[in-house]
Amino acid sequence: MVAEQQATAVLTAPTGTAGSATAVAHPNIALIKYWGKLDERLILPRTDSLSMTLDIFPTTTRVRRSPGAGHDEVTLGGKPAQGEAERRIVAFLDLVRERAGSTDRAVVDTENTVPTGAGLASSASGFAALAVAAATAYGLDLDATALSRLARRGSGSASRSLFGDFVVWHAGRHDAPEEEADLSSYAEPVPAGPLDPALVVAVVNAGPKDVSSRAAMRRTVDTSPLFEPWAVSSKDDLTAMREALGRGDLETVGEIAERNALGMHATMLAARPAVRYMSPASLTVLDSVLQLRRDGVLAYATMDAGPNVKVLCRNADADRVAGVVRGAAQGGAIHIARPGPGARLLTGDGR
Ligand code: DP6
Repeated sequence: MVAEQQATAVLTAPTGTAGSATAVAHPNIALIKYWGKLDERLILPRTDSLSMTLDIFPTTTRVRRSPGAGHDEVTLGGKPAQGEAERRIVAFLDLVRERAGSTDRAVVDTENTVPTGAGLASSASGFAALAVAAATAYGLDLDATALSRLARRGSGSASRSLFGDFVVWHAGRHDAPEEEADLSSYAEPVPAGPLDPALVVAVVNAGPKDVSSRAAMRRTVDTSPLFEPWAVSSKDDLTAMREALGRGDLETVGEIAERNALGMHATMLAARPAVRYMSPASLTVLDSVLQLRRDGVLAYATMDAGPNVKVLCRNADADRVAGVVRGAAQGGAIHIARPGPGARLLTGDGR
């Protein structure tokens, strides 16, 4: 399905229970990373980023307005949400309520199929699904662009999961007044030539990470002497990436994605104190990717705020790449993802 159709699908609300909506969204993996904020409250990023939405690990979220209730009731995988996760979801609902002029609390049920907190973008699919479901349940009439801006307020990378396939998230106008800067930072689909890619995900550690991406990003911007140079080079990477995607040049897409991700990890390693997400198992997988290339297979790695490695390759080579990576991943689970769809509403009615 092309991205424009998906965007329209988001806006088509079938009938359902009053003030209740269910939405589904998939994670995305950045090929040009988002790392660093200009504004923490509005979640305005320092740089543009670009991602591929996956066809695996969907998150399904149901929001039901609960007039008269004294507080929001949030469950993740059937268990009550706690701590930071709960705080972020309630803050997001507050934002939706403010826009909708409602004081209704809500019951939120989320089912994640991705291991939470493992650098596998569970917050991206999570806040994208929540944005679509909550906006509908509270009767906000938002188009896909506005929904991407709303999802951004939950987690920056979530803005990109509104759309399918390849997606750019604009950093927006940094020189503008707050309202304009907010309006100008949204995601949209990126045209791509024939690529037929796959992303082999090597889960070397599915446990939650020690340092959240939010905290690591802040520390990097505040203390890493390598942050500014990376941000400057990331701009050039994005231009080159868009060109490579447009002409369907997967080799160049992979080359740029790998250097951009390793550069991001270099910025963290230079933070004070250093943030290091790579584990010995990650390095072994990175070595296996180098070996695949020496053997003539198109394979390039990217990594996020965790030790897991994602390998971009041709769809036709996915099983071979998965086999090699499995051998290197020291018993970790291997998943093969392809480009996936944007967020969509399953049922919903905001009355
Ligand atoms: C390394 O979107 O999780 O995955 O905006 O603070 O919620 P917050 O951060 P988040 O950061 C994702 C960082 C990344 C790179 C990326 O997805 O672009």
